[in-house]
Amino acid sequence: MTEERRYMLLTGASRGIGHATVKLFQSKGWRILTVSRQAFSEECAWPSARESHIQADLADLSQIDRLAATVRERLPNGRLHALVNNAGISPKGPEKSRLGVMGTDADVWTQVLNVNVVSTALIARALMPELEAAKGSIVMSLRLPERACTPSPVSPMRHPRRPSAR
Ligand SMILES: NC(=O)c1ccc[n+]([C@@H]2O[C@H](COP(=O)([O-])OP(=O)(O)OC[C@H]3O[C@@H](n4cnc5c(N)ncnc54)[C@H](OP(=O)(O)O)[C@@H]3O)[C@@H](O)[C@H]2O)c1
Repeated sequence: MTEERRYMLLTGASRGIGHATVKLFQSKGWRILTVSRQAFSEECAWPSARESHIQADLADLSQIDRLAATVRERLPNGRLHALVNNAGISPKGPEKSRLGVMGTDADVWTQVLNVNVVSTALIARALMPELEAAKGSIVMSLRLPERACTPSPVSPMRHPRRPSAR
C-alpha cells in the first residue's frame, strides 16, 4: 500500500525561515500550502507552487475563515498533517532599532499581536478537525521577546508530535 502524501500549511513562506522550510519538506515529499501577503511569484520554481499558494494578510483577522476554507478545499482527504505558524513581524525603527511601547501606537501593537499570536490560534481552531483527522502537529515560530511577553500561545493548542521531515 502506498503511503499517504502528507500536507502542511506553512505561513510566511515567501522568504527566510519559511522559504527554507518549504524547500526541506518538499524535498521529503510533503505537499506544502503556503500563505503570505504577496501574490504567487512567477519567479518561483517549486513544483505546484502556484496551486499551493494562498494570499492572505494575517493582520486582518477577517481573512482567516476564507483562508481556512481554501485550505480545506485543497486537502484531498480532509487531513492536515502539520500547521507551521511561521509568519511573524517585528517592526523596527531607524537603523533597525527595536521599537518599544513608548515609540509605537495601538495600531502597531494590534498588527503585531494579530500576525504573531491571534491569527495562529484562529487558524489552529478553524483547522482543528483536519489536524485531528491526521493526528497532525502545530509548530510555532516565535522570537524570544514574544515568547517572554505573551502568555504561552502554544499551551492551549494541541501538538501531539513534531512533523518529521522523513
Ligand atoms: N530571523 C530570526 O533570527 C528569527 C529567530 C527566531 C525566530 N524567528 C521567527 O521565525 C519566523 C520567520 O522569521 P524570518 O526571519 O524568516 O522572517 P521574515 O524573513 O521577515 O519573513 C516573514 C514571513 O512572514 C510573512 N508575513 C509577514 N507579515 C505577514 C502578514 N501580515 N500576513 C501573512 N504573512 C506575513 C512574510 O511574507 P509577506 O511579506 O509576503 O507577507 C514572510 O514570508 C518569524 O515568526 C520570526 O519571529 C526568527
